[in-house]
Amino acid sequence: MIEVKEISKFYGSKENRFQVLKSINLKIEEGDFAVILGASGSGKSTMLNVMSGLERPEMGQVIYDGKDITTLSDSQLTRFRKENIGFIFQQYYLLPNMNVVKNVKMGADLAANKDYETIIQAVGLKNKLQKYPSELSGGEQQRVSVARALAKKPKILFLDEPTGALDEETGRQVLDYICRLQQEFGFTIVMVTHNLNIAEMAKTVIKMNSGKISEIHTNETQKTAYEIGW
Ligand SMILES: Nc1ncnc2c1ncn2[C@@H]1O[C@H](COP(=O)(O)OP(=O)(O)OP(=O)(O)O)[C@@H](O)[C@H]1O
Ligand SMILES: [Mg+2]
Repeated sequence: MIEVKEISKFYGSKENRFQVLKSINLKIEEGDFAVILGASGSGKSTMLNVMSGLERPEMGQVIYDGKDITTLSDSQLTRFRKENIGFIFQQYYLLPNMNVVKNVKMGADLAANKDYETIIQAVGLKNKLQKYPSELSGGEQQRVSVARALAKKPKILFLDEPTGALDEETGRQVLDYICRLQQEFGFTIVMVTHNLNIAEMAKTVIKMNSGKISEIHTNETQKTAYEIGW
């Protein structure tokens, strides 16, 4: 379980000091599919970065199974992230001079996992192993980044607008892969999106407004990537 306790985050200094996260409390259960919704600038990405240990909050705690990661040193935090967390961004951030296998293997090497070929197969890229990112479509590139993030078998997968750069068809396809992989591997998903339809795929829907959580609800049924509107 991830527990966020009284998290506050500020940007800027002196008269430009600005509070992005305002004493946020939140719990994410193991195996959940949580979606964070909210207007542009409401603090969604900052929230995701703080929860995943990419950024440090000024106040509060982020507790993973009883362990507070905000007290870790930089090197301990890096190690914690390597061992536990996968992160997928709107832009794929693949290394342009490495082919599919090498890009994915890089994620796997971080955790000394030899099983990266299974995951490439699971995202449907078995016949693109030797291709370079520039030779792939947007959806294929995002699937490589999904494979890279999952190659190290993370316990939690954080995604920040993973379909933001994709058209409808490829967006649905990538979401479908992510859901099926969750069923297979059982990791926890925390996904930021501004697409209200995608929230219907989630179990837990968290709404943010001006640095605060305005609403949390649980969906009784979850739709698939092909059942939602777009
Ligand atoms: N590194 C930074 N330095 C200063 N201000 C920042 C920084 N990162 C974000 N902000 C500000 O914090 C606020 C929240 O930003 P954040 O990126 O978390 O919003 P968001 O909800 O993810 O928005 P979007 O939907 O547009 O991605 C914004 O007003 C933004 O300008
Ligand atoms: Mg954002």
